[in-house]
Amino acid sequence: MSYTEAAAHPGLPSPLRGQVAIVTGAARGIGRAIAERLVADGIRVTAFDIATDVEHTAAEIGASSASVVDVSDVGALQAAIHRTATVAGRLDILVNCAGTCGRESFEGLSLDVWQRDLATNLTASAFASQAAVFPHMREQGYGRLVNISSVSGLAGGIGPVFADGAGGRSGAAYAASKGGAINLTKWIARQVGAWGITCNTVAPGPIASPMAASGDYDVAAIPVPRMGEPHEVAAAVAYLVDPSSAYVNGTCLRVDGGMVMS
Ligand SMILES: NC(=O)c1ccc[n+]([C@@H]2O[C@H](COP(=O)([O-])OP(=O)(O)OC[C@H]3O[C@@H](n4cnc5c(N)ncnc54)[C@H](O)[C@@H]3O)[C@@H](O)[C@H]2O)c1
Repeated sequence: MSYTEAAAHPGLPSPLRGQVAIVTGAARGIGRAIAERLVADGIRVTAFDIATDVEHTAAEIGASSASVVDVSDVGALQAAIHRTATVAGRLDILVNCAGTCGRESFEGLSLDVWQRDLATNLTASAFASQAAVFPHMREQGYGRLVNISSVSGLAGGIGPVFADGAGGRSGAAYAASKGGAINLTKWIARQVGAWGITCNTVAPGPIASPMAASGDYDVAAIPVPRMGEPHEVAAAVAYLVDPSSAYVNGTCLRVDGGMVMS
């Protein structure tokens, strides 16, 4: 059941109503669930994705608008952020969720995969956050930045075993990019905290999304022995973008059933 279907109190006023958010990677999976949750909370959401069907997704979930953007193209990404904020008149929330996950061995690691995963999972989060803060959130004196990392960024790569017995552990580039996103978040948090802006990370464990669909995770080894659902990640994001979380800054919130405790 999606959050929208489960929402029990649609009539309650929300402190988020009328705020403006951008969610990257929103065409499907976790990003779609985050966008759907923020829409349900009364936020005006613009969905970014490299996939052209992001416009279809946006219409389905009631997002205000959609933009076909390759987040690894920093110039296009920053221009799309400025355009969205200018049209909406403000920008309160940025969720960097677009991601790619190579699963190659160390020996098989290619420069192409390294550069793709670093560009999509780390570089884009840095420059999207820069464009959101300067000038929009800085001038407003308010903002919420959330970077979607992964437990792979804490534990050096985790992953499923595929039907042919091959290991599907997320690759070195993915683990490095997701670990980098956690420390990037802390760096930004130190910079923006005095301006009414927070920056936090959510680190999901194995979540039943298209990215994880082809693997067979050893869920029995997880204290909550099942895959997580995209809407459970969205619930963590909803907390971190709420005005009430103003004193939560630079943290990494795991949504992993207790898979990686440290
Ligand atoms: N599914 C999991 O088990 C899991 C676990 C931990 C972290 N995550 C992270 O959560 C985020 C969402 O993952 P998901 O499982 O929904 O993956 P997914 O593959 O189902 O969806 C990713 C979305 O990002 C978009 N995207 C990819 N490259 C892009 C680019 N260059 N520009 C714009 N959009 C791009 C894709 O088109 C897709 O819509 C990712 O950052 C991923 O690393 C996922």
